[in-house]
Amino acid sequence: MLSDKSSKKAFVTRMFDDISGKYDFLNTILSLGQDNRWRKKAVAGISRNGIIIDLCAGGGEMARQILSDKNFNGELIITDISQGMLSLIKQNIPSEFNGRYHPVICDAEKLPFKNDIASGAVSAFCLRNLSDLDAFTDEVRRVLKSDGLARHLEIAHPNNKMLSVLFEFYFYKLSPLIARLFTLKSYAYRYLPASLKNFPPQKKVAEILGRGWTDTSYQNLMGGIAAIYSCKKGDT
Ligand SMILES: C[S@@+](CC[C@H](N)C(=O)[O-])C[C@H]1O[C@@H](n2cnc3c(N)ncnc32)[C@H](O)[C@@H]1O
Repeated sequence: MLSDKSSKKAFVTRMFDDISGKYDFLNTILSLGQDNRWRKKAVAGISRNGIIIDLCAGGGEMARQILSDKNFNGELIITDISQGMLSLIKQNIPSEFNGRYHPVICDAEKLPFKNDIASGAVSAFCLRNLSDLDAFTDEVRRVLKSDGLARHLEIAHPNNKMLSVLFEFYFYKLSPLIARLFTLKSYAYRYLPASLKNFPPQKKVAEILGRGWTDTSYQNLMGGIAAIYSCKKGDT
């Protein structure tokens, strides 16, 4: 059903519009309650100055963390394709940060920004929802300045057999049942775990994300339940 890129994009946009009110809760379940701790690690390496872009920002949880950092002197652009998700930003980000961030509804695979404007870019739990990872990473590289860094957090595939069996049971079997108790959108609680099944292993994701970048690496979290991908633009 979702094999073609434009129907996946339309489906994903509609689904996030549909579940926006329940998303943060569902995400905490799907990430074993680790989502905020992982986001914190992902933003740690990002510049505290200049323009930073939060890609596929959803309700702005990562954005809130960046803005709350006392050393952050930059400006934040918060982007998402779903109007429903982006509309949560006002309630999720304290008003003291008004004026320091700019929400933009847009497709992360076709960013409406000029070349070489940002010092850094981050994303969390977005990669497996995208239709075209190559287009995404090209766009992120295009808008970053030389030496700019992109950091992407995503659920991943554990590398240990035992952990993998436990995680798969939890992620594919148990979490949809828990999620089902709290939302009536049955297609969403089936899609969210299933989106990981077709998502490549960390090494392959790093290879795709790293095409055209100077330096790319990834760091497994909790034995590979999640991973942070770092892509450095280098001098161009
Ligand atoms: C799983 S949520 C993650 C939200 C947020 N980053 C977080 O940390 O909770 C994925 C988000 O990616 C957005 N998204 C999916 N495809 C997108 C695209 N092509 N361009 C921009 N946003 C997209 C969805 O609307 C959704 O808000």
